[in-house]
Amino acid sequence: TTQELEKNFQDKVDAEVRIEPRDWMPGKYRQTLIRQISQHAHSEIVGMLPEGNWISRAPSLKRKQILIAKVQDEAGHGLYLYSAAETLGITRDEMIEQLHSGKAKYSSIFNYPTITWADMGAIGWLVDGAAIMNQVPLCRTSYGPYSRAMIRVCKEESFHQRQGFESLLVLSNGTPEQRAMVQDAIDRWWWPSIMMFGPHDAESTNTEASMKWKIKRFSNDELRQRFVDMIAEQVKLLDMTLPDPELKWNEARGHYDFGKINWEEFWNVVSGNGPCNKQRLDARRKAWEEGAWVREAAKAHAEKRVLREKQ
Ligand code: ACO
Repeated sequence: TTQELEKNFQDKVDAEVRIEPRDWMPGKYRQTLIRQISQHAHSEIVGMLPEGNWISRAPSLKRKQILIAKVQDEAGHGLYLYSAAETLGITRDEMIEQLHSGKAKYSSIFNYPTITWADMGAIGWLVDGAAIMNQVPLCRTSYGPYSRAMIRVCKEESFHQRQGFESLLVLSNGTPEQRAMVQDAIDRWWWPSIMMFGPHDAESTNTEASMKWKIKRFSNDELRQRFVDMIAEQVKLLDMTLPDPELKWNEARGHYDFGKINWEEFWNVVSGNGPCNKQRLDARRKAWEEGAWVREAAKAHAEKRVLREKQ
């Protein structure tokens, strides 16, 4: 019966046995994984845009090589994640259609503009830093293909974070203008970065089920707190500050207290009205349309090969 199947499934999850594509799973588990993995894939793909914006303007050959490599890594992450989601019975075309029609979400963070070179460092340090905090526990997520994809993603992501911090460290030892550029980038990226972890636990509609199924191992607020604690220390090494007057070490809690998040801004961005939402989706749709000939050529080539093998 379904009840027995569900119990059997939960027992496996509780015993830390990974769920594989051919195993029985509750419909809602499948749906929530498709939702999360596809949104994660879309975030990697859309995430190439804000940084791609600076490839042609990187200040040195070395920085340009690093930035190109990083943006390529993100394309790779998107592709592994689309493949992981496909094992659950959705096609890549369906997922891409959901992104282009605005039905599928992707991370709020990629709807902010990258206006100075220091934004590349701030994205590496803060945005990729937040991504790792959220993604390292996903290496132990209950669904096998997702957990395995996350291992490689996290290795690359930790390189991204270090290169971002190193880039800001160099600038922070530079001229007064360079130091001001770093502080300005931190001021603009800080709050959007801590919004990446999602709504507070009380407002997080998916957390309870996802924790029970061990898709998520920690709640949004737990991960956000760890991130704040880490960055509040690292920012001192840059001799910069975070734009939060309420940020303060709380001895009793053993954590940093921090100010109120502007949830109105968050939901505004999530619902499609952030500073760059339209620009990002337009860029993805344009790339899809202009890449049609590549997909057609690849298909024609594959068909020819099949014919040739038959002869
Ligand atoms: N941006 C856009 N939407 C968000 C964000 C965000 N930063 N945070 C939460 N949401 C959405 C959720 O997708 C959910 O909407 P949905 O039910 O329509 O999907 C709604 O807000 C409520 O949030 P939760 O119930 O807390 O959603 P969930 O349990 O999925 O937790 C989280 C959100 C933490 C982002 C989770 O999906 C996750 O860990 N995803 C994998 C990591 C990921 O996607 N990272 C992307 C950015 S990092 C990068 O790509 C470099």
